Amino acid sequence: MQLTQTSTALAKDTLEGLTSKTKRLSSKYFYDESGSKIFQQIMRMPEYYLTDCEYEIFYKQAHSIIGKANPDKIALEIIELGAGDGIKTKLLIKELFRQKIDFRYIPIDISEEILFGMAANMQKEFNELKVAPKAGDYFDMMEEIERYSETPKLILFLGSNIGNFTLDESVEFLSHLHRIIHPQDRLLIGFDLKKSPEVILKAYNDKYGLTRDFNLNLLKRLNEELGANFNLDNFEHAPLYDPQNGVAKSYLVSTCEQTVVFSALNRAIRFSKWETIYTEQSQKYDTEMIHNLAELSGFEVEKNFTDTQSYFMNSLWKPKQ
Ligand code: AVJ
Repeated sequence: MQLTQTSTALAKDTLEGLTSKTKRLSSKYFYDESGSKIFQQIMRMPEYYLTDCEYEIFYKQAHSIIGKANPDKIALEIIELGAGDGIKTKLLIKELFRQKIDFRYIPIDISEEILFGMAANMQKEFNELKVAPKAGDYFDMMEEIERYSETPKLILFLGSNIGNFTLDESVEFLSHLHRIIHPQDRLLIGFDLKKSPEVILKAYNDKYGLTRDFNLNLLKRLNEELGANFNLDNFEHAPLYDPQNGVAKSYLVSTCEQTVVFSALNRAIRFSKWETIYTEQSQKYDTEMIHNLAELSGFEVEKNFTDTQSYFMNSLWKPKQ
């Protein structure tokens, strides 16, 4: 089996994660073609309130968000970190057209297929839209854009994607972003808020089994790309939520003693009965945490926008002067 470039990174991270004392796999590998498709289905189920709440915020408050981010209605570049399906971003784009703002939309994503698919879809919906997708690493692409363009930027990091980082990693990520951007740039970040633990757990433990499939798809990917022989029936999806620190975690739990062979890597990994693989964390925040995060990474909060249930928050940040 010949490894591709992405598979080489996957192989390295997988071996490192599965040979450590407490096994883990990185959530960034969820999004292969079938993982991305399952995630789109997750976003459509009512239990996954995050998408609906952020949609409501944009549907009702796009006018204030854009007005606050760009009060002088000057030309802008809208940069989106992570392409997604664009459904929520379309509401902001509509508002920019309504306010007759001259702008260009630049979605950045590591996965070309998803990125170019959504860019084409956007272009179809708005034929006067200037769209310039960039495939690659967020920071590499941001640096490139900031190097050739003095135009103020509104950077979107939506959907509580930031929640996959630990709080320390978030500070590192946002400080890095802060070092790249210009003083006139703004950041709009989506945060999932702390709420009833029951509501949160249902979003990650849905009755249709979609989140379970999403989690198990990681093992299927290792079978396909690293020649592993995981039997998906021997692993259980186990989500939990700790209301004290706001961390939702997902595990895959081995239901029996088993050995998995990675034929492309010439390796075998043993699992004891009930051993866990930590696959994802989804941080939930409160307003104080959001302000602290801004402060620690060199930003200040300009304004917070929330939905009627106070389930989700879009926070508009500017670099501290
Ligand atoms: C895309 C990272 C925001 O953590 O809620 C959905 C991914 N995981 N269901 C999240 C996810 C399980 C999602 N993010």
